[in-house]
Amino acid sequence: MNKENSEVKASEPINSEVKAGEPTTSAAAAAVAATTEAVAAANPLRDPRDKRIPRVAGPCVLVLFGVTGDLARKKLLPAIYDLANRGLLPPGFSLVGFARRDWKDQDFAELTHAAVKEHARTPFREEVWKQLSEGIFFCPGEFTDDGAFDALAMMLKEIDETRGTGGNYGFYLSVPPKFFPLVVQQLKRTNLADAPPGSWRRVVIEKPFGHDLKSAQELNTITSAVFPESSVFRIDHYLGKETVQNILALRFANNLFEPIWNRGYVDHVQITMAEDIGIGGRAGYFDGIGAARDVIQNHLLQLLALVGMEDPTSFGSDSLRREKEKVLKAVRLPSDLSLSTARGRYGPGWQGGDPVVGYTQEEGIQPDSITETYAAIKLEIANRRWAGVPFYLRTGKRLGRRVTEVAVVFQRAPHLPFSKDDTEILGQNALVIRVQPDEGITVRFGSKVPGTAMEVRDVSMDFAYGESFMESSPEAYERLLLDVLIGDPPLFPHQREVELSWQILDPIEEFWASQGPPEEYPAGTWGPKSADELMARDGRVWRRL
Ligand code: BG6
Repeated sequence: MNKENSEVKASEPINSEVKAGEPTTSAAAAAVAATTEAVAAANPLRDPRDKRIPRVAGPCVLVLFGVTGDLARKKLLPAIYDLANRGLLPPGFSLVGFARRDWKDQDFAELTHAAVKEHARTPFREEVWKQLSEGIFFCPGEFTDDGAFDALAMMLKEIDETRGTGGNYGFYLSVPPKFFPLVVQQLKRTNLADAPPGSWRRVVIEKPFGHDLKSAQELNTITSAVFPESSVFRIDHYLGKETVQNILALRFANNLFEPIWNRGYVDHVQITMAEDIGIGGRAGYFDGIGAARDVIQNHLLQLLALVGMEDPTSFGSDSLRREKEKVLKAVRLPSDLSLSTARGRYGPGWQGGDPVVGYTQEEGIQPDSITETYAAIKLEIANRRWAGVPFYLRTGKRLGRRVTEVAVVFQRAPHLPFSKDDTEILGQNALVIRVQPDEGITVRFGSKVPGTAMEVRDVSMDFAYGESFMESSPEAYERLLLDVLIGDPPLFPHQREVELSWQILDPIEEFWASQGPPEEYPAGTWGPKSADELMARDGRVWRRL
């Protein structure tokens, strides 16, 4: 630690306008009042009678392994600044970077500064940055280097003494999974995983949690030998998105949708995560993993669980996770995977007016790779609510545009008392949860076309976050990092959910591995023909996005 004057006074706010602190202290009471006021001022639609206590993190250190990666630069470091800027981090909050670089604190602070400037959601404020940067430290070392971890333990002790962080540490493993065992073992060896009475230790694990059921179980054995389950936070960043959490509000805070949210009214559900980007510089990670392991096993199956589950008795982690588990357990694959799955990989094509190369021409990809960049799967849920209602999941890279949505498509009206011509172009009613971009919800339904005839066609009713709430939503990582620091687990999948998701995917991966290379689709289009054929066999089409 090479910082001068790094001591923090307990009363010093990390954000000079909004004081932060533990909700239980009197400094915190002031912080809470100030935060509430600041939030209310920022959002004129907030009800001024709303006196709920904002959730503020207590004193702690976040140790980040993998500070030089893309995730840290684009998401984690900016999210930490955004939390500080919103007054949600405590005065002594400290951030320790650990990596194999010959760096000093100052170098890591500079990296963080650049990341914040480029990617933070909230405006840059010098006074917030100044205070945050006083708590930024760097510990150089390799994961195999005992000495480096001993130095880390010493550094954390010193930070506790100078910055009042009370022995509360979060360890964020933003590193390739092959290093998890090493890091976790080092945390055990140095006693950093054991929380002395009155403090906490938590470990945050980035996906992928293994690459199949077996490896996920192995990973869990390693982690659970060191940390109790209540201290393990598995990140699925989709659960941190406002629009994803809003699925619960939509379903369970209203009486409008739930009565028709079942096989009596729903024809099918389409869950789409389309990206226009290719694999970028992530060949090392992506090749051999593929689109299904990358996002279906986690993000899309979590969306399916939220859409399909029964109402939890509360939003506490036990009941929420239990309901998600129940629905994941009820998921069934159709018997013939050649008819109910499709995969593809992008070939050369066009994106945003520019020519782009195909997957096998990307840097770092072998020409004989059989990794898919597109995957579509038809699933069923064997329970009373959903029997017979297919859930279609699709994802792909280098598709027409970036869009993630959940579309609940309803059955046609049982009888149409119109002439056939009048309803010729009428589609099926649909409720579309627009996860991103253009966050909101659309309801599609039939309406009379003005005129003398009784012609009916589809129109849309729209809810847009931008219009209704007038402030940008926090980034997923802001929410999830705060939850880790507070120790609030509902938005983190339990190991059982992870294992159930692999159980669903493993037979599909096994089937695909026995096939040849995936079908090619031109970059910038909507995926392979086999995905359209999958839908056509059921007399359906993918939604046009
Ligand atoms: C990650 C995947 O989990 O999600 C990436 O590993 C993908 O391949 C990313 O690009 C997309 O996240 P978002 O939030 O932009 O939809």
